[in-house]
Amino acid sequence: MTMKILDLYAGLGGTARGIQKILTERKIPFEYVAIEIDSNVATTHKKNNPQSKVVVADALKYLNQVDNFHFVWASPPCHTHSQWQMINKGRGIEIPKPDPTLWFLIREFRKLAINFVVENVRPYYKKPLDNSVKIGRHLFWSSYPIKSFQVKETLTRFNKMTIIDWKEFHELETIESTRYFKRQALRNVCHWSIAAGIFEQFLEPKILPITSFLKGVESES
Ligand SMILES: C[S@@+](CC[C@H](N)C(=O)[O-])C[C@H]1O[C@@H](n2cnc3c(N)ncnc32)[C@H](O)[C@@H]1O
Repeated sequence: MTMKILDLYAGLGGTARGIQKILTERKIPFEYVAIEIDSNVATTHKKNNPQSKVVVADALKYLNQVDNFHFVWASPPCHTHSQWQMINKGRGIEIPKPDPTLWFLIREFRKLAINFVVENVRPYYKKPLDNSVKIGRHLFWSSYPIKSFQVKETLTRFNKMTIIDWKEFHELETIESTRYFKRQALRNVCHWSIAAGIFEQFLEPKILPITSFLKGVESES
């Protein structure tokens, strides 16, 4: 039985590394499909996670396929939600409206009753959608209860981190690009240990027996 995972907005692959690490340690056979719109990022994701099947595409085009997967992770772009937007307040720079894709995905996944995690950052505005869990600088919405845990912190302040600092922190390669975009791609990453901790909780038998999350196990075996 192969566990099928869909990683939407897959980026450089911190999430992929964490989830694949747990699956490998537990000897669970898996198929890992990673959807990323930027071909440069997608190429680097593949280098970082050779077991990912990387597809260069718009994640939203895959919404009609989420039901074919046992577990879906989505990390839609976070910059319009981020508290960093507040730096621009008072500089005469207009703060962009939060991209509603985040809320659309959460509502859609809940409606479809699939096994999912949606990741974003702590927002600059007051009330995010209900039932989120804060872990490190991230917020998570999920189809199962997630307990928060201590995360690895960066040694230097977030905005002082160099490309080398980020690469060491995430244990990932970054894209071939300008310094700005190399750093940006790394800043977007969800640390693999966070994804691993959250995915482990999904596999916890007391939350969800293994037989129930592997939908269709009988039909395939
Ligand atoms: C927050 S990052 C994902 C980080 C990833 N979870 C990780 O841990 O490495 C979001 C990624 O989504 C990609 N992206 C943006 N719009 C997209 C779209 N419509 N479809 C697919 N990917 C998209 C960006 O290029 C970026 O790499």
